[in-house]
Amino acid sequence: MSNFSIESLEKYFKIYRKSIKKPKKFWDEIAEENFTWHMMWDKVLEFDMEKAKFTWFKNAKLNITKNCIDRHLMKRGDQTAIIFEPNDPKEEAQHITYNELYKQVSKFANVLTEQGIEKGDRVCIYLPMIPELAYAVLACARIGAVHSVVFAGFSSSALATRINDSSCKMLITSDGGFRGNKVIDLKGIADKALEDTPSIEKTLVVKRTGKEVNMKDGRDLWIAPLLEKAAGESVAAIMDAEDILFILYTSGSTGKPKGMVHTTAGYMVYAGYTFKNVFNYEKGDVYWCTADIGWITGHSYIIYGPLLNGATTVIFEGVPSYPDYSRFWEVVQKHKVNQFYTAPTAIRALAKEDIHFVQDYQLNSLKVIGSVGEPINDEAWHWYNDHVGGKRCPLVDTWWQTETGGIMISPIPFVTPTKPTYASLPLPGIQPALMDNLRNEIEGNQVTGSLCIKYPWPGIARTIWGDHQRYIDTYFSTYPGKYFTGDGALRDEVGYYRITGRVDDVVIVSGHNLGTAPIEDVINEHQSVAESAIVGYPHEVKGNALYGYVILKDLGIDRDETQVAIEINRLISDQIGPIAKLDKIQFVPGLPKTRSGKIMRRILRKIAVGETKDFGDISTLLNPEVVKDIIKHRK
Ligand code: PRX
Repeated sequence: MSNFSIESLEKYFKIYRKSIKKPKKFWDEIAEENFTWHMMWDKVLEFDMEKAKFTWFKNAKLNITKNCIDRHLMKRGDQTAIIFEPNDPKEEAQHITYNELYKQVSKFANVLTEQGIEKGDRVCIYLPMIPELAYAVLACARIGAVHSVVFAGFSSSALATRINDSSCKMLITSDGGFRGNKVIDLKGIADKALEDTPSIEKTLVVKRTGKEVNMKDGRDLWIAPLLEKAAGESVAAIMDAEDILFILYTSGSTGKPKGMVHTTAGYMVYAGYTFKNVFNYEKGDVYWCTADIGWITGHSYIIYGPLLNGATTVIFEGVPSYPDYSRFWEVVQKHKVNQFYTAPTAIRALAKEDIHFVQDYQLNSLKVIGSVGEPINDEAWHWYNDHVGGKRCPLVDTWWQTETGGIMISPIPFVTPTKPTYASLPLPGIQPALMDNLRNEIEGNQVTGSLCIKYPWPGIARTIWGDHQRYIDTYFSTYPGKYFTGDGALRDEVGYYRITGRVDDVVIVSGHNLGTAPIEDVINEHQSVAESAIVGYPHEVKGNALYGYVILKDLGIDRDETQVAIEINRLISDQIGPIAKLDKIQFVPGLPKTRSGKIMRRILRKIAVGETKDFGDISTLLNPEVVKDIIKHRK
């Protein structure tokens, strides 16, 4: 895929300028030349930023799976589409060709149809990182059902919330999954969730671990016998450009998770375009993204982006530390991986271990290495660049979000000179802006501000499922006429962007986006807790960790604080998932508040990092004595 190639920085700037001057023409050409359409569009784009309404490729008809699979069959039917690398290195890897992928996705699609799934129905997918996860996702897209993948690390109540929010009709799960030396009882977790999900009519269960599970009559079905009977061909449903392709939940700074809605044509064009340009994928290359398909990175850069480009993509079931810390590098060597895309948190964890874990392996197949999900600190950047990339592979630090559908700011390998910790330049078609506190755009270089995007791009989410007003309020009202990312950024002297972190109440822990408010809601459910406030603080491996300040209720009895802390983390683990557990919990007599009752989180953030003076303007602080007490007993 390519209707242009960016071979030099000069060419990048030329294409970039063109893309800004005539964005519709720019996207029109990319869409036309690189994809298969059932019917072309009447208009490239209609939009209204204030109302957050976007129509890309109006009235075009297509099916994304025809673009991911069918159109490759003539040319590369026998080429490997997916390499499945199991958790246990002793279990053999699977090479799934495009022909085989077509067959498996068709079978899955036929089973879904047989089981009553129709175009527009929501199907929740709660599976480990196995090929069936990719088949299930693509099968939904094949028949026009909306997939909602829930990360298999989420708890039953998080799963139930997501199923109920978009009233999914079906759940696809498995008898379990392997992760490192653990066996995860996914079906058991799902069963608990299903006690409270009235919209689910059927559950299809993939066999992975072989462990005995409970199968509820009339609701649960093993998928294997159904697949066996199903035909290995299928006709792809004809979808409108703006039909919903998927919902993917992301945590918000307040309230329940936001079901970000992505639609068919725009998402396809954007995932395909960005994959092609950011990873420099060439025919025959093996590409590996270590993310989980439960996150947007897995959607766009394990499944859709690579397959749209006819690539070979690795699906890895395991973790970087099992059986030991060389696992990533062993897989790179084994499959001769050419592009490797991971998260800073993994890099930091691996950099802490003995260097022989990396040096014992041949990594010379690598051509491009990538980073995503959180700011990559200088030390991690250099370690990754030197020891994994061998100082010869461009390191692409890719900035983007669930909401953007695909990569927005990133170096183009072999073109954009990389600079440690900088995501560098926007991709052609993307127009970033930095905003000041007065909501004015900050022009020029060597400036810092809130990062916005001032013109639509095809991959932009279209709404929050069931709550368009929340979509407007969260992303389009802070800076009218612009999409607000929630991140802060600086632009250096040559126009490179460096993402400085969130400016709202979202904390990125190990690359996972966690809103503090939903976690506080869970803590406050504990019978002994009166109130709580959570902030992020820097953590060596995770990037950020969570620090909770908790006020206990005055129940007139002594409580064992260590025990309450354990119970709080158990509650969080049950209701959200282990990723949201607090690293530090401090019991406090009160929280610093303004006269209007708002918690002054700025002060709590400073205390968490050990700054006990210089709290800035504290003229509105109602209870300074509480601050003194919190400092004294800081964890
Ligand atoms: O704060 C930014 C951070 O991750 C947030 C988006 O999280 P999520 O929707 O879960 O998507 C993660 C995968 C795309 C952003 O608002 N982030 C993502 N990539 C980077 C980053 N921060 C700094 N540098 C990055 N490369």
